[in-house]
Amino acid sequence: MTSTDLTDRIAVVTGAAHGIGAAVAAELTARGAKVVAVDLAPAVRAHREQGRVSAAVCGDVTDPATVRAALAAAEALGGPATVLVQAAYAGTPEPLDGQSEESWDRTVELVLSAARRFDRAFVQALATGRPPAAAIVHIASPHAFGAVPGFAAYAAAKAGLLALTRAAAVEWGPRGVRCNAVAPGFIPVERNRHVWTDPALGEAMLRASPLGRFGTAAEVARAVAFLASPESSFVNGACLPVDGGMTALLPEALLR
Ligand SMILES: NC(=O)c1ccc[n+]([C@@H]2O[C@H](COP(=O)([O-])OP(=O)(O)OC[C@H]3O[C@@H](n4cnc5c(N)ncnc54)[C@H](O)[C@@H]3O)[C@@H](O)[C@H]2O)c1
Repeated sequence: MTSTDLTDRIAVVTGAAHGIGAAVAAELTARGAKVVAVDLAPAVRAHREQGRVSAAVCGDVTDPATVRAALAAAEALGGPATVLVQAAYAGTPEPLDGQSEESWDRTVELVLSAARRFDRAFVQALATGRPPAAAIVHIASPHAFGAVPGFAAYAAAKAGLLALTRAAAVEWGPRGVRCNAVAPGFIPVERNRHVWTDPALGEAMLRASPLGRFGTAAEVARAVAFLASPESSFVNGACLPVDGGMTALLPEALLR
């Protein structure tokens, strides 16, 4: 057994039907965890039916009933869950001066407030079970560090998610719960197909990547697995960029 082995761990992964969340669910399963996949999209059920995860909950993570169902599914697998990965996201860019209150609130609710509620319920479920050595991993974004027009709500919510990561690390660390984040660079998924299939946009994104390529969901998933595993047992409150160096680059570098 290696220290990134997750045998017998029970993990809840949100946003697990597609993209990065699905890759995380597959990676944790491959390392021996029993994974409860949670997603709004009914496609999440296929992951269960095809044996890629141990249980599937189809629901909206902003609904407390979904959170309860996911944690109950973890209990049914022999829980409580000791790993929680939060990757759920949906939204469209909107200019700061044109965005409705409702749209702003929807993004902040999904990315930040619902994540806080899920974290809290996860920790409360641990308290009623065996003493935990538990790990939470939030999927953050480079938008937490720098601005792109149209992404104000997303950026504010992801920056808030990093603040939540640190707060949770400090408040729950004494109880054996570590909380960290990963900030993926550009990862081609179905949701952002319009970017990577657009020659001009895709080329511009590649120029901003020191490695000269996009990342893959599997590369992000391996970083998440590290933060979920005992391999990272003294890492708490950190944000690990998995971006090929994109956030290390100053715009000046693009002129040379
Ligand atoms: N792809 C990238 O380039 C990139 C870069 C940085 C950060 N991220 C972050 O990675 C995470 C995963 O995004 P992705 O790019 O894989 O997108 P994705 O669309 O492939 O996956 C997001 C998943 O979340 C689910 N979802 C949306 N709203 C939900 C809700 N209310 N309740 C439950 N599930 C819901 C969707 O159905 C989908 O399966 C997000 O947090 C995103 O902000 C992605």
